Amino acid sequence: MDARCSAPLLSAARAADIAANPFVADFPLLAARPDIAYLDSAATAQRPAAVIEAEARFYETMNANPLRGLYGLSVEATAALEEARATFARRVGAADPREIVFTRNATESLNLVAKTLGEQLLSEGDEVCISILEHHSNLIPWQQICARTGATLVWLYPDAEGHFSPEEIEAKIGPATRIVSIAQVSNVLGVETPVAAIAERAHAMGAILIVDGAQAVSHLPVAVQELGCDLYAFSAHKALGPFGVGALWGRLELLESMPPFLTGGEMIDSVTQEGAVWAPVPEKFEAGTQDAAGIYASAVGLTYLEEVGLEAIAAREEALTTLLMGELAKLEGVSVLGPCDPAEHHGVVSFDVAGIHPHDVASLLDAKGVAIRAGHHCAQPLLAWLGHPSVNRASVAFYNDADDVMQLVDGLKFVQEVFHGSR
Ligand code: ALA
Repeated sequence: MDARCSAPLLSAARAADIAANPFVADFPLLAARPDIAYLDSAATAQRPAAVIEAEARFYETMNANPLRGLYGLSVEATAALEEARATFARRVGAADPREIVFTRNATESLNLVAKTLGEQLLSEGDEVCISILEHHSNLIPWQQICARTGATLVWLYPDAEGHFSPEEIEAKIGPATRIVSIAQVSNVLGVETPVAAIAERAHAMGAILIVDGAQAVSHLPVAVQELGCDLYAFSAHKALGPFGVGALWGRLELLESMPPFLTGGEMIDSVTQEGAVWAPVPEKFEAGTQDAAGIYASAVGLTYLEEVGLEAIAAREEALTTLLMGELAKLEGVSVLGPCDPAEHHGVVSFDVAGIHPHDVASLLDAKGVAIRAGHHCAQPLLAWLGHPSVNRASVAFYNDADDVMQLVDGLKFVQEVFHGSR
């Protein structure tokens, strides 16, 4: 661990909690592959049997194209889709299920906003403010729209631990700012950004605030009203759902004022040879057939998270992170990026192993059954700013246990022995 941080301590009670794993039985892959320490949940979660079975159940018992048929099966499929929308709304504290737009993933949600709201609002002289922490999904859409409209991209910079000062927020969000778009939790440092303070400043300046919640929804109790944002993007696959389902929450009147994104079937009210009238929100943004089975199963994943409890999840992940950071602190040449306090990592621990490229670290760990991500983590500007073009990242979820963490730690000792010999 970095010399600036002392090793965090894990209480005996917390250590006992994470020695046990009551969740493995619910996760078929974890139960079938006890040899694997899966520590890449920031990339995608493992799925409980309830989610896998729900997707099959949709096809086996209610499969039809939702919203289109007048027959019973299609009505059932539509009801399943709309019940899922209500679950998504509840997960982020939305006032009305109509405020949830289904997309393919958080990336598509952010592209939707940049290409509709961005196009509508921005012109030369305007500013879009993002932070250096952003994943490429919350950077490239804004780079592109700024290039097209002549707006300028302005960057918020945190301190070395990832904390933003009120002075930085005030300096970078000003009268020319039309849009602010920021991750709630960094996929590299794990740190949470001060969304409520950013919302206050953005709104005082008349700007719209978009939050990329991709790394937050499976770790934190999210309440969009309390965050004070205007739009919130997230993916289901990081929150126990299948691949290919995402969502955009937005304030109803804002969504109503935005032009459509993709056009075609189901997003219209009426069509003539000359033009079209758009359907009401959210259908206006849902052109084409939705992945109804995936959406239905995603809602089961969100419900599973609620049943475990977001507070309980956060506590278990914090204990696992505390164990991991404490053990990394004992390894010579290993330094952790971001905050010293494990509670601020939201399960994400990026680290450097002196003298060994992260791709070599990850490949050798794989030989020991440990799955971590290594590379630029789709956040190249952040890594360039941190001076580490590539880093290792272990990310825990509530379904991990102390054995998974120790498998990583033992694996790192093996990696160091291979490269440096025994110390
Ligand atoms: N966005 C995912 C990650 O950070 C893929 O790994």
